[in-house]
Amino acid sequence: MYEAWHVVADVNPPVGDHPLWRTQTANQRSGGITWRCVSCHGWDYKGAEGAFGEGRPGYTGFPGVIQTVGLPEGELRAWLDGTRNPDHNFSAYLDAASTRNLIAFLRTRLINTDLLIDPKTGISLGSADRGGGLYAASCADCHGDEGADLNFGTANSPVFIGDLAVNDPWRFLHKTRFGQANTSMPAGENLGWSLQDFADVLAYSQSLPLGNPAAGLTDPGPIFNLEEQGSSVPLVLGAIVILVTVFGGVWVAGLEARAGDPERPSH
Ligand code: HEC
Ligand code: HEC
Repeated sequence: MYEAWHVVADVNPPVGDHPLWRTQTANQRSGGITWRCVSCHGWDYKGAEGAFGEGRPGYTGFPGVIQTVGLPEGELRAWLDGTRNPDHNFSAYLDAASTRNLIAFLRTRLINTDLLIDPKTGISLGSADRGGGLYAASCADCHGDEGADLNFGTANSPVFIGDLAVNDPWRFLHKTRFGQANTSMPAGENLGWSLQDFADVLAYSQSLPLGNPAAGLTDPGPIFNLEEQGSSVPLVLGAIVILVTVFGGVWVAGLEARAGDPERPSH
């Protein structure tokens, strides 16, 4: 839900930009994507204090949510139903169960990603040797031994799991822990993985061949083009098709935006 609550809750996305999105000008994205928690708060949950910092593609200036770990449920509910800020009101879209799940995620599942990923270089602090075994057992069936069986980019500009691991390790970590909305990808958290396991599989994935060595990633990850999607019914197939189409386009934009970005993690 943090990645794409409207996809998970199977509700039609709001039309236009989120009202808070309009309070900033740094990030020119628009439409459904501006309603996703991750667009404003980041894959590392640190908002402008983290990988979506000033000068980075995901920058908005908005705060993170990492400080909400352990807060009483009522306090978080007050943030999601507009009590704390009328422009931060998701109650029209999220039913009681969805809201509870999202609150539980915030209170109990956020971690400081600096424990697993060097925040400056993006390099995993885990062990690639150990990660290789985990990758072979849990990821290779779908992503392939070389990570090239699933292409998140286009034929001309491929984005493999190795590219993601290098260019956006925080997104990689979040998705490996929680899966990807409406795909068959399993969530490591449901398989009982430790944080060490996630760091290790990330370290190994960062050593996989790159489909697009020159590229950097844009924010904030695969885009379900909600404006075009209209209805959220044909989700799984629709999302994958749209994702490939749209992400391909954004990828090119990202190449331009990030050309010469000295902060881009590389190794
Ligand atoms: C368009 C940007 C935007 C989106 C989308 C967004 N938020 Fe926020 N969020 C903010 C801003 C800005 C604040 C701080 C607002 C304030 O101080 O009044 C905030 C504050 C919060 C806080 C309070 C943080 C604290 O320090 O106590 C929580 C929790 C939170 N958001 C969770 C979420 C969740 C969960 C979602 C997805 C359902 C979400 N937000 C979507 C911009 C956004
Ligand atoms: C059952 C098949 C399956 C398995 C097993 C699987 N994945 Fe995936 N994974 C997918 C699918 C499907 C997608 C979405 C593909 C797309 O977006 O085009 C995906 C997407 C991802 C993404 C997100 C890409 C993005 O655009 O953000 C990451 C990261 C990822 N997988 C990592 C892993 C890792 C690490 C493992 C092993 C721990 C793993 N996957 C195991 C099927 C799988």
